[in-house]
This record gives sequence, C-alpha cells and structure tokens, in this order.
Amino acid sequence: MAKVKTQYLCGECGETYSKWQGKCASCGAFNSIHEFKEAKLSSKNQVLRAGVDLTKLELQASNRRGQVRFSAKIEELDRVLGGGFFPGSVVLFGGHPGIGKSTLSLQIFQKLQTTAFYFSGEESVDQVQSRLVRIGGKNVVAEERIFSTNSLEDIVTTLQTQQPQFAVIDSIQMVGVEGSSFGTMSQIRENAEVLIKLAKSVGTTLLIIGHVTKNDEIAGPKVLEHLVDAVLYLEGERNSEIRLLRSPKNRFGSTLEVGVFEMAGHGLQELKNPSEFFLQERAVEGYGSVVTCIRDGARNFLLEVQALTNKTNFGQPRRTAHGMELSKVHLLLAVISKYTPFGCDEYDAYFNIIGGLRVQDPSVDLAIVAAVLSSRLEKEIAADTVVLGEVGLGGEVRRVGQLEARLKEIEKLGFKRVITPRYREEFATTLHVVKCNNVADILKYLFSK
Ligand code: TYD
Ligand code: MG
Repeated sequence: MAKVKTQYLCGECGETYSKWQGKCASCGAFNSIHEFKEAKLSSKNQVLRAGVDLTKLELQASNRRGQVRFSAKIEELDRVLGGGFFPGSVVLFGGHPGIGKSTLSLQIFQKLQTTAFYFSGEESVDQVQSRLVRIGGKNVVAEERIFSTNSLEDIVTTLQTQQPQFAVIDSIQMVGVEGSSFGTMSQIRENAEVLIKLAKSVGTTLLIIGHVTKNDEIAGPKVLEHLVDAVLYLEGERNSEIRLLRSPKNRFGSTLEVGVFEMAGHGLQELKNPSEFFLQERAVEGYGSVVTCIRDGARNFLLEVQALTNKTNFGQPRRTAHGMELSKVHLLLAVISKYTPFGCDEYDAYFNIIGGLRVQDPSVDLAIVAAVLSSRLEKEIAADTVVLGEVGLGGEVRRVGQLEARLKEIEKLGFKRVITPRYREEFATTLHVVKCNNVADILKYLFSK
C-alpha cells in the first residue's frame, strides 16, 4: 500500500494546508477547504494510477524533448500561447459550459490533422464528427483519432502506445478511473497528475478542458492551475457572440495577450480587426453615442459607448448598465452633477457598450461622461471624434496608460480628432488632439458649436 497523507486543499485557489481551517489564508474564501488524500510514491513501483506506473514514466526518454513550438494554426490562439504549443506541455482550457471550449478544441484538432487525438467524455464519436462537419470539416478527420471514453486507463494506454503530437481531453471532470466517482476535487487533481506526467514523458501536448460552474462549485480547474504549464480561459458576455481568449498563467509567454473570436454558425472565427467589428453597426447620427479606445491586455479596442437619459416620471431615477459596472455609472453621474451644470439627479440613465465586451479599463470614464452629456443636451458628438480618459472624483481627467499605442489605433481607423487627458510627451500623430483638464472642459470641446 502506498502511504496516504491527508492534506487540505482550497477549492478556490488550490492552496494546500496540513490542517483544516474555515477560511483560506491565500485567497480569503470561506468554507472552500476540503480534505484531500494524496497518494505518495513511497518507493518504486508501488503506485499504479490508472494502470500506469508513474515511477517508470520519467525514465522513458521522450524523442520530442527539446523540439521547438508548433503552431495551433489559429493565429489568435498562437499569439495568446506566445507562439504556439510546446511539445510535452500541458495546457488547461477553462471556461463556463457552453462558451465554446469544445468548439475551439475541435478546430485545433482539425487543423493539426494526422498528428492529433480527441478524447471526449461528453459526446459520442458521431456527435463529435457532426460537430467537425459543422465547423467546416470537409476533409473529415479519420474516426480512429476520435475517442468517446470516460476511462482514464483508455486515454493513458492510447497516448502511451500512439504518442500523438497533440491530444484534447474533453473534459477533466468527465474522465476517471473506473469504479471511482467523477468530478470530485481530489479525483480531478489525481487524474491531472497522471496526465501531466504522461505528457512530459511521451512528449504529447495536452489540451485539458475544465468546466467552471456558475458558482465555481466544482472548482477543479482552479485546483489544476498550479500543476499545468499554461492556462487558457475563454470568456464572453451572455447574449454576445464575442469570445475573448486569455492566458492567466503561461510559462512560455505573456499573460497579457488577448485573442478575439466571434462565435459563428461554423465555429469560432478569429476577429483580426476587432475595432472595425465593434464599430460596424454604428449609427453615426444620434445623441448619446461616442467612440472610445480601451485597452485590454496588450490590445487596443475602439468601441461605441451609448447613454440615454430621460426625465424621471416618478420616484427614484432608474439606472441600468450593460458592459460596465453599475457602480461606475453611479459615480460618474455624481461627478457630472457636481462639476457641470447638467446634473442627472432627476433623470433615468441607461448605458450600453456596443459589441458585447465588458469594459474594465478606467479610460472609458470620459466617454461615458461625454455620452451622458450628449444625451442630456440633445447634441451629437461629431462622428470623427474619439474620447478617452479616466475621471477622478474631483471631476479631473486623469492620464491613461499606453496613450501612444491608442492614438495609433484611433488613427488607423480613420478618426480625425481625439479628446484626451493632459500629457507632456510628443507623440507623432496626424490626429487633432484636444487635451482636457476636467469634465467641464468637454462641454467646451464637444458641444460649443
Ligand atoms: P461548446 O463548444 O460545446 O461549449 P463548451 O465545450 O465550452 O461547453 O459550445 C456550445 C455552444 O456554441 C452552443 O450553444 C452552440 C454554439 N455553437 C455555435 O454557435 N456555432 C458552432 O459552430 C458550434 C460548433 C457551436
Ligand atoms: Mg464541451
């Protein structure tokens, strides 16, 4: 028997403890710590997990060691990975159910053709194939490389004997050793350990899909983040086709890159020029609309911000916001009331970011203020103008990061004028730059005609 050591594991962040405690000291979550039995390899040949002798695996010299990266043949993904997959690396692919993890994985599988395997614990081979046809699989992938199995033993044996370049496990919650319960935290972690060892030894790159549930109850993926080489995360807003691919952990590249996709009828399509996409439906005429430039990770996006204000008929004014925090909206409305003559205390106000992106970058503040004032004054903002800047509680307009790169993106999309915070540097640009100090300034610069 292997020596069994009891540990306690936080389901939120994966931190381990030797004793149980009510609150995780690492991430601050309550009641997230559960018992976890880790089977230690106390001496050689003792533990066979999933039918694999883990102690022997490491001795197998991988013929792929030292090889260079290979491309996933999807540019946006390659960029997020830092230039493609490394042989023998393990990438965890997380996201909420239905967001498109299987779809993107199948697209990679299809592009890599003869060198890739796909293990689905959720769908039959026929289902996987019909999905492949849907995402444009004219040259249908040979059936012998798609497996429908929940058995970790099967996966391990297949990988050991066939040693493909790349394999997808869909999903880690749906595989296990026969006879054991699936989806528990310790099971997920044990399975992952087996797969990681295997990947390193045979040199197969593994893409392991892990669902994140709404309340993060099965926090499997979080627990695995520590073990894998890189984490990919696919996210998107409800009711939006836009999907952002990020890499919150990456041993081989930057964690700042963002890949942008659109979920279409035939799989996830890369959006090489997201700004154009976000602005394509722009109604040029109308109050309450303005374009801004936000930065997400290492990318700049031009977006349309809309605001609608209406006199409140009775009672409390209503406020709703899509694509931004409601608290931000409240704060900016208070700033407008305090520092301009156009207070909104008796106005309902509705906000939207067109295109389905959720904006975190505070540089969107000034555009929100401009959109509110435009709606409130019933004056349009010129269609060739972009507004950006963070707004402070004193009504002051604050600097934003990477302004030069943003100006380039704005210029590229054919805009002529930009309202920015004050700055001293000399940036080469053909744009007409209007620098402003505070929110009252934009009344002067945007609506004085
Ligand atoms: P899926 O990849 O199954 O999500 P996950 O594996 O993350 O759970 O994506 C499922 C959703 O994507 C489903 O609602 C249907 C939609 N979809 C498309 O819109 N177009 C497509 O080409 C495909 C394959 C799926
Ligand atoms: Mg799936």
